Amino acid sequence: MIVDLRSDTVTRPSPAMLQAMIEAPLGDDVLGDDPTVHRLEALAASLAGKQAALFTPSGTMANLLAIFGWTRPGDEVLMEAGAHPYNYEAAGSAVVAGVQVHPIHGARGQLDPDAVWSHVRPANDHFAPATLLCVEDTANRGGGSVYPLEVLDALSTGARARGLRTHLDGARAFNAVVHSGVALARRAADFDSVSFCFSKGLGAPVGSVVCGPADWIARARRHRKLLGGGMRQAGLLAAGALYALEHNIARLAEDHRRASDLSAGLAALGLETEAPQTNMVYVTVADAPATVAALDARGVRTLAVSPTSIRLVTHLDVDDAGVQRALAGFAEASA
Ligand SMILES: Cc1ncc(COP(=O)(O)O)c(C=O)c1O
Repeated sequence: MIVDLRSDTVTRPSPAMLQAMIEAPLGDDVLGDDPTVHRLEALAASLAGKQAALFTPSGTMANLLAIFGWTRPGDEVLMEAGAHPYNYEAAGSAVVAGVQVHPIHGARGQLDPDAVWSHVRPANDHFAPATLLCVEDTANRGGGSVYPLEVLDALSTGARARGLRTHLDGARAFNAVVHSGVALARRAADFDSVSFCFSKGLGAPVGSVVCGPADWIARARRHRKLLGGGMRQAGLLAAGALYALEHNIARLAEDHRRASDLSAGLAALGLETEAPQTNMVYVTVADAPATVAALDARGVRTLAVSPTSIRLVTHLDVDDAGVQRALAGFAEASA
């Protein structure tokens, strides 16, 4: 039996989620009349503490809409060097929004407010003006790390004081919420916009959302159209996302506990890994592609993220037995 730890995006909709999708009332969302999408966007906005929300096909599009919506061509966007839009979004911010990313290195994928502001360059014809700060919580390349609330606040208020807009890439925002015990509306309180994904730990097949001020979301809706992201009977997908929000948030704690078990087991095998805060485990090996192939042959699917680093992510479709099979696979592969 295969245990798939490549990502929390690999989950399949449960029978109950599928049933909710089948039964969802539908309309044409491009014409603005899909009631299930309306219900999802209203719930997402209220969870995020923002005026409005827009359902998007992916987290990548949600981030791109935020960057497109808060900047002008020629601007600079600050983010941590491992951040998703800088590394894994096909340079959409450069191609579509015409901005350049200014990457800043931080510990565990997190920006340090004391170090960030020196990267905001003074007004000068030589420099691209920094107009947006993007913060990723949890920080994927930071091992799924969760920002302390006071650091989130320092980043958002510090950016505002310097005239920058702020976007919170909360692809795994509810992992941060469950770990910290602090509601999303509070964590995102001082950010201009926040995005989160239904298709990751929450277990829906497709979809993300971007939330922000009502007039800004109206413009984002137009930009979504421009990008080809208007979806007709999208209520089918929104119903899966609604089911995920209504049933799958608190259980993320189980994924976090299993990631800790996995990390402790890997450490017991003598492998180098940091104790996780949420659902991601990064482990250092001599040859990541070779180890991934050896694990694959044993039914354990993982992801090489560098020549010497492998990522393992726990999710709805990984149980305790799956964690044990993964550990047995590592024991054999590294024997
Ligand atoms: C932090 C972060 N932001 C954004 C995304 C993009 O989401 P999607 O794969 O839905 O485009 C991901 C995907 O893994 C992510 O980890």
